[in-house]
Amino acid sequence: MPDLGLPHVHSGKVRDIYAVDDDRLLMVTSDRISAFDVVMGEPIPHKGRVLTAMSAFWFDLLADVVTGHLLSTALDDLPRTAQKMAAEADLAGRVMLTRRADMLPVECIVRGYLTGSAWKEYRTAGTMHGAALPAGLAEADRLPEPVFTPSTKAEVGGKDENISFAAAVDLVGEALAAELRDVSLELYERGAEWARERGIIIADTKFELGLVGGELVLCDEVLTPDSSRFWPTDAWEPGATPPSFDKQPVRDYLDGLDWDKTPPPPPLPGGVVAATSERYIEAYERITGRSFADWPGVDG
Ligand SMILES: Nc1ncnc2c1ncn2[C@@H]1O[C@H](COP(=O)(O)OP(=O)(O)OP(=O)(O)O)[C@@H](O)[C@H]1O
Ligand SMILES: [Mg+2]
Repeated sequence: MPDLGLPHVHSGKVRDIYAVDDDRLLMVTSDRISAFDVVMGEPIPHKGRVLTAMSAFWFDLLADVVTGHLLSTALDDLPRTAQKMAAEADLAGRVMLTRRADMLPVECIVRGYLTGSAWKEYRTAGTMHGAALPAGLAEADRLPEPVFTPSTKAEVGGKDENISFAAAVDLVGEALAAELRDVSLELYERGAEWARERGIIIADTKFELGLVGGELVLCDEVLTPDSSRFWPTDAWEPGATPPSFDKQPVRDYLDGLDWDKTPPPPPLPGGVVAATSERYIEAYERITGRSFADWPGVDG
């Protein structure tokens, strides 16, 4: 974890978070990658920049739906000493200066396609998140309409727990729960349609929202491959879950090994690392229509 001369607040699997002052945080996105919930030993070149650039793109595009926490992705906007240390640690292009929010204890998951744990539940019980769905849906089918399926954040190492809408109401109150649902559905619908037109299905995603001075604010990362399932549109065929747009080279490699999916992870060959890096960059360029080479820190 880079030393930026700022108090360290939190580190997740992929990001390190620092306090800038009482009102602002600095989120640094590393190149770490996890597969099957285990962080690999090798960084994926530029992954942190891709996630930062993609989140910044979505915050901008979706700003009319809800205010975002992002203030800046420029090193110039950091406090002087942090600026210097960040530049030396090669962090250009993978920092987000954000408003500090009081996070709401509800993870806002939206599903547009039937896969993962939702498919498992449907296959055995005919329901998703406890609610009935039409009969005869196949794995990876598009749902009749996107569904808000909230969860609570697990304690470190635990599994997130699905909660009903009523349970979300208990946690944040009726009005805020309804606002979280409506905002999340609109964000997903807008983002998924945008991506679909550009060859990427966003099958499902997780948003995290918080309050800043009483105002609802979209926080964390937005519609990235780390917070969502991205599938190539042309590889989508209901009946089986399509390959992951970004992580498939890693998953395919690991599936071919005799590894029990617990730490320590096996080393990734250079070719797998390079192919994965290319997939992340391609996802960014397809979705934004921008050249990744123009993002800060990419060329040296
Ligand atoms: N604007 C914000 N203000 C305050 N907290 C925020 C803000 N944006 C995100 N967060 C919080 O910062 C943390 C980001 O942590 P991060 O996602 O890196 O790790 P994690 O969620 O603990 O683990 P994982 O690696 O599984 O995601 C989360 O707890 C998130 O709720
Ligand atoms: Mg997280």
